[in-house]
Amino acid sequence: MRELGFSVVRVAEFAWSIFEPTEGVFQFGLFDRALELAHKHGLKVIIGTPTATPPAWLTHKYPEVLNVTQEGVTLHHGLRRHYNYSSQKYRELSAIITRRMAEHYKDHPAVIGWQIDNEFNCEINEFYAPADHDAFREWCITKYGTLDKLNEAWGTVFWSQTYSEWEQVCLPRPTPGKKQPNPHQALDEKRFISDNTISYAKVQTDILREVAPHQWLTTNGLFGHLDSHRMQDDLLDFFSYDSYPQFSTIYYDKNEENPLADRGWSQTLSAVRSISPNFCIMEQQAGPGGWVNRMDMPSPKPGQMRLWTYQSIAHGANMVVYFRWRTATFGNEIYWHGINDYHNKLNRRVHEAGRIGAELAQAGSRIASTRYTADIAMLRDYDNEWDGEYDVWHGPFSRQSGKAWFKALTRRHIPSDTVYVRTGTTIEDLKRYKVLIYPHPAIMRDETAALLEQYTREGGIIIFGCRTGYKDERGHCYMRPFPGAAAALTGISVEEFTMVKGTREAVSMKWSGGKEALTGADSFNDVLLPESDSVVVVAHYASDYYAGKPAVTKNKFGEGEAWYFGAVFNESSAGQIIERLGLVSPAADWLALPEQVELSIRQDASGPLHFLLNYSEQPALITLSEEKTDLLTGKKLSGTVDLEGYGVLVLS
Ligand code: GAL
Repeated sequence: MRELGFSVVRVAEFAWSIFEPTEGVFQFGLFDRALELAHKHGLKVIIGTPTATPPAWLTHKYPEVLNVTQEGVTLHHGLRRHYNYSSQKYRELSAIITRRMAEHYKDHPAVIGWQIDNEFNCEINEFYAPADHDAFREWCITKYGTLDKLNEAWGTVFWSQTYSEWEQVCLPRPTPGKKQPNPHQALDEKRFISDNTISYAKVQTDILREVAPHQWLTTNGLFGHLDSHRMQDDLLDFFSYDSYPQFSTIYYDKNEENPLADRGWSQTLSAVRSISPNFCIMEQQAGPGGWVNRMDMPSPKPGQMRLWTYQSIAHGANMVVYFRWRTATFGNEIYWHGINDYHNKLNRRVHEAGRIGAELAQAGSRIASTRYTADIAMLRDYDNEWDGEYDVWHGPFSRQSGKAWFKALTRRHIPSDTVYVRTGTTIEDLKRYKVLIYPHPAIMRDETAALLEQYTREGGIIIFGCRTGYKDERGHCYMRPFPGAAAALTGISVEEFTMVKGTREAVSMKWSGGKEALTGADSFNDVLLPESDSVVVVAHYASDYYAGKPAVTKNKFGEGEAWYFGAVFNESSAGQIIERLGLVSPAADWLALPEQVELSIRQDASGPLHFLLNYSEQPALITLSEEKTDLLTGKKLSGTVDLEGYGVLVLS
């Protein structure tokens, strides 16, 4: 490892049965020996608390700690993450193992920090054990105080769902129809799961802060039903993420036009960056991946592992740990390859890791003081993500539009950030960006609308898509004309709307006020009605019975502009807006890049670093009209430069 330039390892994240082979009996010998060796060779160590894998003795003796499906099926020992966060017994036993490990390793010279659990809410992010129903009921009592308030928030008078005793309140249970709970209860369920996950994590972070105050705390992964931003703010020193860019190639929609494949992972990394601007990649893909019965990711081609490593770094990673060192010869992950194969003899991935190690040994410290910069951000929020999981009248659109915008921007070499709109979001958080795109915020609180109005009034440009602003935080529709909370800002109302699917033929829209163009008006159409003189119609519907009616508008609002796009975005409609706003790459005046190359910029007081990442196997021809130095090789570059397939340059 040292020869390859590694400086950090992570260990023990699943080793509960090694540390505590039977209840109350602790042993540290194996990891003591490993840590000693690491220390001897100058490697620093991150220790994982092993609570993602309760041992057999534990779940056998205390079956109440097990997770249960909504249908009531108990999930048993045999995989991992089969526990629930609500069981007091599990919290107690988690606290004991965490404290024992913290006490044992708090002063170890090699140990720099802790990873709490492993990938909260991976594998499963729903919990229906008896303890979960009880904890949810308590959560509802705290949130609503009275049953009347809960009944009102959940609209229970509809279909006679009114609760008359607290004991009747549970997490959503099986109903006639497949998984069709009360939608407002379903939204609260997600909020509860998130709060409950964080409160479980806090059991461990409280102990570690007390016992091992000089070691930092993080956790890894970005999964559903968890407000990772709050978890970061309340509990952690920085956030960590596990980056497997090939997930985007196996999970993208097969009908998707021009998929971005592994480059699409950059959008996910922008969400990670919104949690902590500089983060750790706790698991960076280092080989072909697969479990015995699921996922079958091809082997990274020569250069791809290096490309993905710099993709993480370009987007804000300041620490990268590969998953894993050696490929396991047994268990579910025998095909999830590490840098080394089963035999541990040199292979090309080991050599590639060594090349990266040597490069970062000299360039790393210059990179580490910088942060990603962008002038444009995509807005997201947890309320809409959680509500939209169930509500198909807006949920699926956000993903579709988010991708469309990301593709349109990244192919034009315009870096973008992701920003989560949260209770604590300030005007300063937003004013860092010239343009904000908030594709389909169906739920919009009046406070959020007021913040966005202030942003626009002070010169910002905000872009909404269809289905904006019509629900409150409970998920009730406002009794106001659409776009509800965003009506004043956009200066329009929605005359009528329709899904565009099933028997409906595809609809198109015609753009004016710039280059004329025809683009698809996909999936859902809001037919717009300007309500103010400050509104300009930018595109009209070009087909169906509402042909000729406004499809896209922009409203001058204070010093800024609010756009309303009546449909779900596609790449070409996003392109139309980008063109009309005159948005170009921040390096446009000295750098010409082909589409296949991503541009990311990290910056500090001593200037910008331009990361050029070639996602194609083919070389890319780039042109520099100013001389620059490649930080990784020290070479001076100017004029026409051939960037090798999967190649990377870091220009300063
Ligand atoms: C992550 C997990 C690792 C390993 C890896 C490959 O989700 O944290 O433990 O399972 O994926 O499957």
